[in-house]
Amino acid sequence: MTRYLPYGDMEKLLSLSKRRGFVFQSSEIYGGLSSTWDYGPLGVELKRNVKEAWWKSVVVSREDVVGLDAAILMQRQVWEASGHLENFSDPLVECKNCHIRLREDQLETDVCPECSGELTEPRNFNLMFKTFQGPVEETASEIFLRPETAQGIFVNFNNVLNSSRKKLPFGIAQIGKSFRNEITPGNFTFRTREFEQMEIEFFVTPGDDDEWLQSWLKERYDWYLKYGIREDNLRIRKHDDSELAHYAKETYDIEYRFPWGWGELEGIANRTDFDLKQHAQTSGTDISYFDEATKSRFVPYVIEPSGGVDRATLAFWLDAYDEEPDGDSSRTVLKFHRLLAPVTVAILPLSKNEKLAPLTKGILDRLKFKFKCQYDDSQSIGRRYRRQDEIGTPFCVTIDFDSLEDDKVTIRERDSMHQSRIPISDLVSVLEDKLEHNW
Ligand code: GAP
Repeated sequence: MTRYLPYGDMEKLLSLSKRRGFVFQSSEIYGGLSSTWDYGPLGVELKRNVKEAWWKSVVVSREDVVGLDAAILMQRQVWEASGHLENFSDPLVECKNCHIRLREDQLETDVCPECSGELTEPRNFNLMFKTFQGPVEETASEIFLRPETAQGIFVNFNNVLNSSRKKLPFGIAQIGKSFRNEITPGNFTFRTREFEQMEIEFFVTPGDDDEWLQSWLKERYDWYLKYGIREDNLRIRKHDDSELAHYAKETYDIEYRFPWGWGELEGIANRTDFDLKQHAQTSGTDISYFDEATKSRFVPYVIEPSGGVDRATLAFWLDAYDEEPDGDSSRTVLKFHRLLAPVTVAILPLSKNEKLAPLTKGILDRLKFKFKCQYDDSQSIGRRYRRQDEIGTPFCVTIDFDSLEDDKVTIRERDSMHQSRIPISDLVSVLEDKLEHNW
């Protein structure tokens, strides 16, 4: 079934976002900073879960990938070597009438789309954010906020190789903030100037690169499906030669059908030996690999699956959104994958009656170190179920007066709304089982 939010309905998601605490406008009380967003109490849990699912899938569950957390600030020469100072730019045009600035490569007309005014000739606008290290604002102390996390991996290639004693093929994975002074940010958290990336640089023997590119493409595509994106809303698109980044031999994008159209979630690129060679040359350091089996030394090729945390989070969220008939009315439900949901278990005493309090507290204390829990005792149980549906909580545990007699509670499942009564002593294992196996 194709189910995705039509553009008009983004309003519903944005309203839910603000009302329930997923994402807020940055610096809102000062009028907001354009295209900059803060993740609220639910948004931060969702985003952490997305990153955790990625890390588990590409680092924890694999023996050929290790992690890294490199600094955002790096030597200026890194960006000279990588080609970003020279090539990391978009063609900028300005309207001579209303002075709006636009990306020439995204325009469908040769006049201003806002006022039909004449446009200036395009000039290359470098997307790197500049700042100064230390107290003196002079060219010598000029540095950049990284526009991709990848370079932190390349410049640490020798360190990781020597300390982890990995053999090819192996990868280094990293999650972290990147910054780009985008000319036209927009579409909520889709294109922003500050964002998070989750990137892997997977080093292979030259000649094995084409096969590894296809293998990572499949692995990463399947990951989005596994965590809940509908197949109809996901596609793979190959870059044509004119689109390829300055370092890439071949690239595929995994795209999601956003309400405004198809947009990139992740790029999987064959970066060849471009980066390692550039850094070796610029730094004067030998960056190469000695293959014991063939007794040969060479510079590895790199396959790079590079995804955006914010885009993946938004896609999982959009794809989870649903409105279903429920009796005479309807319910809004976020059908998050159970491991991505910001709250896993809601603890709901049937009433605020103090007789239920000690048992409820005991259950909350038992569950809260195992699962992300939320306690709620206000309003009717039906309304509380709806509130949990709306934020995508997969399980509600209801404690009622019978619980005091039979030591049992009710588990209510979000999607089927099925309810089952189970002994309190089995609660943790039943929930763990449901989380692991999705019964
Ligand atoms: N190291 C390769 C690289 O950075 P990219 O295609 O420019 O490749 C990778 O970026 C991913 O980072 C994109 O697929 C997207 O998910 C995310 N991304 C890039 N620019 C972004 C922006 N301005 N806002 C949000 N996410 C962005």
